[in-house]
Amino acid sequence: MELFLDTANLEEISLYGAFIDGITTNPTIMSRYAHNEHYSLVRKICGMVRGPVSVEVNSEDFEGMVQEGQKLATISNKVCVKLPCTFDGFMASKKLSAGGIPTNLTLCFSPTQALIAAKCGATYVSPFIGRLEDSGHDGILLLEEIAEIYQANEYETKILAASIRSVSHVVQAARIGVGAITLPPHVMQQCLEHPLTHKGMEIFSRNWENKK
Ligand code: G3P
Repeated sequence: MELFLDTANLEEISLYGAFIDGITTNPTIMSRYAHNEHYSLVRKICGMVRGPVSVEVNSEDFEGMVQEGQKLATISNKVCVKLPCTFDGFMASKKLSAGGIPTNLTLCFSPTQALIAAKCGATYVSPFIGRLEDSGHDGILLLEEIAEIYQANEYETKILAASIRSVSHVVQAARIGVGAITLPPHVMQQCLEHPLTHKGMEIFSRNWENKK
């Protein structure tokens, strides 16, 4: 299973670089860090990680998405073009993936969107767990349904669990056996820590200092 960090902050990428396989971004994340240097930021990120860097198109129509995707792909062969689960996004995935450009179908909220993503050659499909739960639905059930459909049909598209809000989401996604999980940096930090680890260290340290 791949672990990605959901950020475009170079310090965070450097801090957690040892634990991650790649990066995911979206227009909101890029808008925080890219300023007027979108492509140069993508290039820097690609230089910092071994695996894929998902970068989303801003166009909403097929032609624009394909052009943007092809341009993004010239930055590095690590770029994975992120496209929305819309008619145009699916069509753009079909076109880009046929040309050897990896795609990540994002804003996935239903098993049928994931099914179409697989039919369109997507490398990844990104179900948004947290946002689905915000709207009163079961995000983990969605992961289970997609996993079942992909397994039954032997689709190669990887499930990339996204919009992760908690350590519990990470555990549940990993237990289902998704292909990848993308973590916001604060959840990555929570995954590394446990209060009993710190408490245990304090006890060990105190006992060591009080040794006879
Ligand atoms: O990778 C998708 C993720 O960036 C969306 O997360 O927390 O904005 O729902 P969130």
